[in-house]
Amino acid sequence: MARSLFITVMISTALTLLVAGACVAGAASAPDNYRFYCAQCHGLEGYGDGPNATKNQPVEPRDHTSAYEMGKLTDEDISYVIKDGGIATSKSTLMPPFGKTLTDAEVTELVSYIRKLCNCSAR
Ligand code: HEC
Repeated sequence: MARSLFITVMISTALTLLVAGACVAGAASAPDNYRFYCAQCHGLEGYGDGPNATKNQPVEPRDHTSAYEMGKLTDEDISYVIKDGGIATSKSTLMPPFGKTLTDAEVTELVSYIRKLCNCSAR
């Protein structure tokens, strides 16, 4: 009896460590982060048409596929906006800050991902 309890405790401890380890180690890929954190406003494909984007908002989420709009921003601008929110480029605070949610590496990867969506660089 005591032995099976011991085994049960050991197994559940091992499972907990496994799950915790996966969470700490798991920096998600840029497409995954985009779908998880950005798509509700910017849309799954980046067109700015996510379910939280409505015509009633004073500003619409940026269309990340627009080379015209995204070409106005440097990589640094995009990185600041992701970390500090819309206010970083004097834009709407409806664009939330993710500096405490994403690591610097994840932000850098998102900048590259957005550059792929717009197929553009800063003008
Ligand atoms: C709650 C809705 C919302 C979410 C979630 C959101 N955004 Fe935005 N985002 C906006 C809005 C609204 C704007 C347009 C701000 C403006 O034009 O004033 C915007 C603008 C931007 C811009 C352009 C800023 C500029 O100066 O033109 C970038 C880049 C951006 N978002 C990236 C992201 C990324 C990357 C994520 C996910 C990590 C994300 N956003 C999540 C609403 C959102």
